[in-house]
Amino acid sequence: MRVKKFLMTGIILGLGVQSLSGCADRRGTIPDKVHVGVACYNQSDMFISELLTCLREEFDQRGAAVTIRDAAGSQRIQNDQVKELIDSNCNVLCVNVVDRADPSEIIDLARENNVPIIFFNREPVAEDLMQWEGLYYVGADAEQSGTMQGELAADAIKSNSRIDRNKDGKIQYVVLEGEPGHQDAIIRTENAVNALRSSGIELEKLSYGIANWNRAQAQNRMQQMISKYHNQIELVLANNDAMALGAIDAYEKLNYTEAAWPVFFGIDGTDEGLQAIMDSRLAGTVYNDKEGQAEAIAELAFSVVMEDMDDENQAENEKYIYLPYEKVTSENAEDFLNQEKTEESVSE
Ligand code: GAL
Ligand code: CA
Repeated sequence: MRVKKFLMTGIILGLGVQSLSGCADRRGTIPDKVHVGVACYNQSDMFISELLTCLREEFDQRGAAVTIRDAAGSQRIQNDQVKELIDSNCNVLCVNVVDRADPSEIIDLARENNVPIIFFNREPVAEDLMQWEGLYYVGADAEQSGTMQGELAADAIKSNSRIDRNKDGKIQYVVLEGEPGHQDAIIRTENAVNALRSSGIELEKLSYGIANWNRAQAQNRMQQMISKYHNQIELVLANNDAMALGAIDAYEKLNYTEAAWPVFFGIDGTDEGLQAIMDSRLAGTVYNDKEGQAEAIAELAFSVVMEDMDDENQAENEKYIYLPYEKVTSENAEDFLNQEKTEESVSE
């Protein structure tokens, strides 16, 4: 039973004091079933849709009831969806917040109704997460993914002299960036470039394009860059696989022969990204551990619902769970694809 309803009934019936004990009851009693409300920023995002599949499996295996809502990129829609999920008696929320700088309305709603929130993938700022003890975050460390991407690119450049096609001793590169303001965009780019530099690679940045994690937008941006720089581009660093694949689409669309292609690097290890590595179109990616994240979210959801998270031993740093990234090249891409297939067949 939700606090708000209690409060309203309390006011109407004049049972002010008892209404407050309704709040305590809700925290103190263990519900028969875990009802999870999942709110995601945009289900058409390739990585998010794969992560949601894993999340649903994790909750299904544990016997939780799950309702998933898609905000299609609108914070206003997401606020309404969160309200609706709370009204439909969810006892925990998993929120992939649209605007990571502005989760306040969602936090207020959850706090008023005493429903804990596990934010995931889009990290609210620390100040917001500290607003209430019922707030958590599950994700991954952006810096690590960027560094790994840069190291993969440095290894490839060192072992293949043909990447420096004009033989000037420098690598001419472009960047395809994710959404401005997202923790995984600028930080990935910066760290990839730093890792390349610190391994001794000389770089020349030709240009960049913002493509909001999206394959079609990346193709578009890439076509514009190709029309300006023709075959000068030797390396494409994309903040995710979908955009790396969009860049490859651009070269295909313009009928460039593979000999004139740059090398492409992504991040995520989506099914399509892994397949592109197997097909030698994508040189490398960094695995964003959706299985690990989904499992951590589901475990945390159960422990916040089933246990008393007001407990004093609930350490502050338990609010954050970061799963490690892993490097993927043609040498191990198949293992990742197979691992996913095995997990699918186990859960069937
Ligand atoms: C990133 C991921 C991107 C995109 C984004 C959405 O972690 O690498 O592909 O899904 O999250 O928030
Ligand atoms: Ca060069």
